[in-house]
Amino acid sequence: MQHPAMERPDGNAYGRPVQTYDAELAEVGPGKPCGEFLRRYWQPVGISRLVTTRPKNVRILGEDLILFRDGKGRPGLLTPRCAHRGTSLYYGKVDDNGIRCCYHGWQFDVEGRCIDQPCEPENGKPYRDRIRQPWYPVLERYGLVFAYMGPPEKKPVLPQWDALENLTPDETIFATDSSFSVGGDDSVKILPWNWLQDWENSTDPWHVYILHTAFSGSQFAPEMAVSPQVKWENTELGIRYVAYRRLSDGRELERISPLLFPNLISTPDVQLAPGATTTVGWVVPVDDTHHRRFHSMKVPKDLKGRPRQMYTENRPKPWIEMSEAERQAWPSDWEAQESQGPIAYHSEEHLATSDRGIVMLRRLLRQQIRLVQQGGDPIGVTFDPAKAFMKTGGGNFFRAASAIPA
Ligand code: FES
Ligand SMILES: [Fe+2]
Repeated sequence: MQHPAMERPDGNAYGRPVQTYDAELAEVGPGKPCGEFLRRYWQPVGISRLVTTRPKNVRILGEDLILFRDGKGRPGLLTPRCAHRGTSLYYGKVDDNGIRCCYHGWQFDVEGRCIDQPCEPENGKPYRDRIRQPWYPVLERYGLVFAYMGPPEKKPVLPQWDALENLTPDETIFATDSSFSVGGDDSVKILPWNWLQDWENSTDPWHVYILHTAFSGSQFAPEMAVSPQVKWENTELGIRYVAYRRLSDGRELERISPLLFPNLISTPDVQLAPGATTTVGWVVPVDDTHHRRFHSMKVPKDLKGRPRQMYTENRPKPWIEMSEAERQAWPSDWEAQESQGPIAYHSEEHLATSDRGIVMLRRLLRQQIRLVQQGGDPIGVTFDPAKAFMKTGGGNFFRAASAIPA
C-alpha cells in the first residue's frame, strides 16, 4: 500500500513511498506475463556432459523438474512428483528405457509414458497407458540441454547462432554454468536475485568504466579506463550498444555488445581479444528471485585449463573466500547486482542518460510480452528451419592508428 505521505522536497526519508517492482517484467512463473513470454523460446536447463543417469533437480521459470539421461543417451525432463503417489523421481533409478520411481517402481520414459508398474497385474499393461508423467521436450546443442516449456503448438525451431557455428578443425565448444561472469565463482551456480538485473547489466557499458575499472581497480582490460562514447540501437533480435574509444596508442575501438531476446547475451571478450564474439550466454530465471547463467563458447581443442573467456576478475582471492570487508573493497557485478535486492525496486529508480539501453530494453521487453498476450509470436521466434540461423553481431573491432584520417 502506498504510504500517504509524499516524497519530501528536502529529501528527508520519513514517510517516503512504499517501494514496488515492475511485476510485468520481473515475474517468471507459469501464467505470469513475462513467464509466458520466456516460455516461447528454448531455454538451457543443463550442461550436456553433466546430464547422466543420475537424476538432477532443476528449477527453472519457477517450476521444479527432474533432468536425467536414459541409458540410450536420450535426455528427459519430467515433473518430480511421481504420477502414482507423488514421491520425487529425484530418488529414481534410470536404465535404458527411462526413470523408475523408488517407491513402487513405476517407470517412465523420457516423454513421461508409463512403461512399467511392477506391483500391478501384468505389470500394469491393461491400464498404464492412461498414465503420463508431465514432461517437456528437450534438445541438445552447443554442449547444453535446452527445454521448451511453452504451448506445444507454438514450439519454435532452436536457433543456430553464428558465434557458435563454423568451427575450425582446431576448435570445439565448451559449455559452463559457472557464475564467473558476474564476479562469482565456478562453484556458485545460482545467483540470488531477479534475472532482469543481470540481463540489464549487459547493456550497461558505463558500469564497466566505473565499477570494473575506476572503482575496484582494473578488473577488465586497462583500455576500459578510457571514457567511451556510447550509442544504443535496436536490432533484428533485440538491442545492442556500441562503445567507441580512442585509445592512447591512437587506435580506435568499437566494442559492440548485443542482447538477443528473450534473455541472451553475446558479450565481447573483456580482455579485448579482437574480432567477432565467440561466446553466447543465457540469463535464465530460476524463479522470481534467483537466476543462473549458461555460456557456450568456442575454445581450442587442445585447451589446457580455463577457457580464456572465463576471465578471473582482478581480486585478491577467489570470490568464495573473500570476507565481507574484501567484498566491500573490491565489489564487482555480484555485489552491485545482489545489493539491488532480490527484485530491484523499479519504483524508486532515477534512470538517466547513461541508462538509455535499460530503457530501450524494458520497452522492447514489455512490447514483446504484450505481443504474446495478444496471440502474436515474439521477436526471434521462427518455425521455419531455413530461418533458424541467427547473427549475434558482437565483438571488439579495432582500427589501426594509420587508418584514421588526421
Ligand atoms: S509413488 Fe512412485 S511408484 Fe508409487
Ligand atoms: Fe559487469
